[in-house]
Amino acid sequence: MAARGEFSSRTAFVLAAAGSAIGLGNIWGFPIQVASNGGGAFVFTYIVLTFLLAYPILMAELIIGRHAKTDTVSSILAVSSPGTRWLAYLTGYWGMLTASLILSFYSIIAGWMIAYFIGGFAELLGLVDVKAWLTEFSLSRNIIFCFVFYSLTISIVASGVSGGIERWSTRLMPALLLLMVLLIAYIATQDGAAEGWRVYLQPDFSRVLNPDLVINALSQAFFSLSLGVGTMMIYGSYVSKSENIAKLGASVAALDIGVAVLAGLLVIPAMYVALHNGVTIYDDAGNLIASDNLIFTVLPALFETMGSAGPVVAILFFSLMTIAALTSSISMLEVPVAYASESKNMPRAKAAWVVGGLVLLISLVIVFNFGTLFPLVIAFTTKYSEPLIGLLFCVFVGWIWHRNHILDEIKQGYPDAENGLFWKIWPTYVKFVCPLLVLALFWHSMS
Ligand code: PHE
Repeated sequence: MAARGEFSSRTAFVLAAAGSAIGLGNIWGFPIQVASNGGGAFVFTYIVLTFLLAYPILMAELIIGRHAKTDTVSSILAVSSPGTRWLAYLTGYWGMLTASLILSFYSIIAGWMIAYFIGGFAELLGLVDVKAWLTEFSLSRNIIFCFVFYSLTISIVASGVSGGIERWSTRLMPALLLLMVLLIAYIATQDGAAEGWRVYLQPDFSRVLNPDLVINALSQAFFSLSLGVGTMMIYGSYVSKSENIAKLGASVAALDIGVAVLAGLLVIPAMYVALHNGVTIYDDAGNLIASDNLIFTVLPALFETMGSAGPVVAILFFSLMTIAALTSSISMLEVPVAYASESKNMPRAKAAWVVGGLVLLISLVIVFNFGTLFPLVIAFTTKYSEPLIGLLFCVFVGWIWHRNHILDEIKQGYPDAENGLFWKIWPTYVKFVCPLLVLALFWHSMS
């Protein structure tokens, strides 16, 4: 059997895992959530929940993954007991299904990014009709660009960890960050931006416990850190035993929050600049119009204020968005592909094309029934599946896997773990606090 892939360095892992975490969830999803859930109040609750719930569960996934060093189903089985094997299968398969379903809607949005990217060239060349087709919602556009995005995702996954995943993530994520910072600086020169900053940075504390806001912030925190589907478990499985895993996890979480906050600093002021320039964003009742389209409305409006530089900035921005989406989509596809190649002995490249092809079929079904299925699949995967599977991961590390074995695992690469803060808090925390908190938040949102 071929040797398993492994990330070649600590930086490579952090960038790849951050590449998985940072994606459309941060730059497309987070601003929509902020704009429809009361601005700063949402940002506040989201950050609190990321620390309280998402980081500890991220650690559970990374630790299980690095311990077992195999696909997700086998990893969870490795930490189960004879009586809980059924639960391990349930958790593993449910995670794999959720990863595939997330990929199926994610690639539709990512296809839009590619279309807008090419739209920038069409504008430069004066091809007005082509640009209109690329940037308006249509069946043909959605199908074609979904295909393009799948071909890219599948080809990268087919070539494995260090050749594919690592090479892309390490080079391109830093470029995205830089462009965002430059755009934020540009926004500061525009009228209307100050109002955006106020809405974004001043939480209205009377709203932070609103049940809808809390459950949306919970699912955003899970989605954004790629939790509850097995992605981080798989990435953990490619981490070398000589790394301090608690530290690595903290860097990934910090980068992910950082980019979400930056994306908000860009999109929310851009929204107010657009409002100032006469673009309609909220309806009379104060609801966000076409929320899926938020960044496709306000950012192009912003680029237009830049004169002839506009299309070039648009090309840069949407190309980097496509890359951010790719470093996430490859991590979703990796979950079922690792299973097919490690548990079912299928060659990696074949597994990538077969599984990728099947998920593409699901995307097509969604594209043809967009109005009903798109929001439904998003709600099923991000609102329910991810937090509940995260809860099951806590059950495994808190109640089933032996505590001393967990400590032994963490001690590899962090010999003094026993005396550190992480070990003092985390085991009890994932055992009691995380499961109860997830359940309480669900309860709260139902009542
Ligand atoms: N975290 C990714 C994003 O924010 C989405 C993702 C979810 C990736 C689940 C992998 C697994 O865009």
